[in-house]
Amino acid sequence: MLVLGIDTSCDDTSVAVYDATGNRVLSNIVSSQYSFHREFGGVVPEIAARKHAENIDLVFDEALRVAGVKVKELSLICTTNRPGLLPALLVGLTFGKGLSYSLSLPFKAVHHIEAHIFSPFIGSEPQYPFIALVVSGGHTLIVLVESLGRYRLLGKTLDDAVGEAYDKVAKLLGLGYPGGPVIDRLYREYGGEFLELPRPRVKGFNYSFSGIKTAVRRLVEKGYPPPQIAASFQETAISYLLGKLKKVVKETGVKRVAVSGGVSANSLLRERLKELGLELHLPPLEYTSDNGAMVAYAGYRRFLLEGEDSLEVGAFARSPIA
Ligand code: KG4
Ligand code: ZN
Repeated sequence: MLVLGIDTSCDDTSVAVYDATGNRVLSNIVSSQYSFHREFGGVVPEIAARKHAENIDLVFDEALRVAGVKVKELSLICTTNRPGLLPALLVGLTFGKGLSYSLSLPFKAVHHIEAHIFSPFIGSEPQYPFIALVVSGGHTLIVLVESLGRYRLLGKTLDDAVGEAYDKVAKLLGLGYPGGPVIDRLYREYGGEFLELPRPRVKGFNYSFSGIKTAVRRLVEKGYPPPQIAASFQETAISYLLGKLKKVVKETGVKRVAVSGGVSANSLLRERLKELGLELHLPPLEYTSDNGAMVAYAGYRRFLLEGEDSLEVGAFARSPIA
């Protein structure tokens, strides 16, 4: 059974072909829009939507070509419909529905966070329960996953997502967008001392990243060298993330941990996670940022659980996971 996965929730146009029978991704094409948003220091929803509309045909054709699959061989269309930038989501959703209608194929609308949560298991089968740490440009959450669709939200950020903090810090330092990869690289190159940054005290397993960002702004104003600020920020942000995760593992007794989202590409996060003695599941780098493969993988599993969705399903900018 060949499953198409589409994601246009933010600034990546992505289409993948997933062979559900063989549990194998045949193609996963991502057309990134970074260069169009760079001058604004963040994603502009209307630009994102326009670029998705311009690119989605090409990305779709390329996904089929690389997979070596013909349109009529597809069996299921899965598209992200929530949460995300509304104008951007609508492009992929309309495209997916159009394919489903014209090919008379079942359609499945996919929750973007659910797709991230399961992305570390693409190509294998998830075992339950597990703790999901989702760290992306739009989200930072810790979820206890009891099974597909049964989630307990244990913690989330009360303000900025960790990826958003990376992007804002990079903007303050004049490092461009997206901030994660360049700050990660500067951290690796930096050999000096770290500057002291606050670790916001927030109740329970919740996070707050806005205080760290404000502290970074002060360091910039005081004239500290950008590489030192960037490296200090990464040191603080990652150990803050891991501190709460360790508490969650201790309190729940669940040692199976799956980390996903754009920030899960971070080299320091990966290194430190491996030292924690967990049953750790990390996605390959190509499935960390937004991608169609995770949408096909999660959508197929949802389809098995509850069948197809009506083509009347809409797009939603916000949609809590639990
Ligand atoms: O999952 P994603 O592609 O999009 C959302 O759903 O938000 O995540 C994008 C985020 C950006 O904020 C980017 O700066 C961050 O992931 N990112 C990283 C790294 N690579 C990407 N953050 C830290 N370290 C990285 N190596
Ligand atoms: Zn995402």
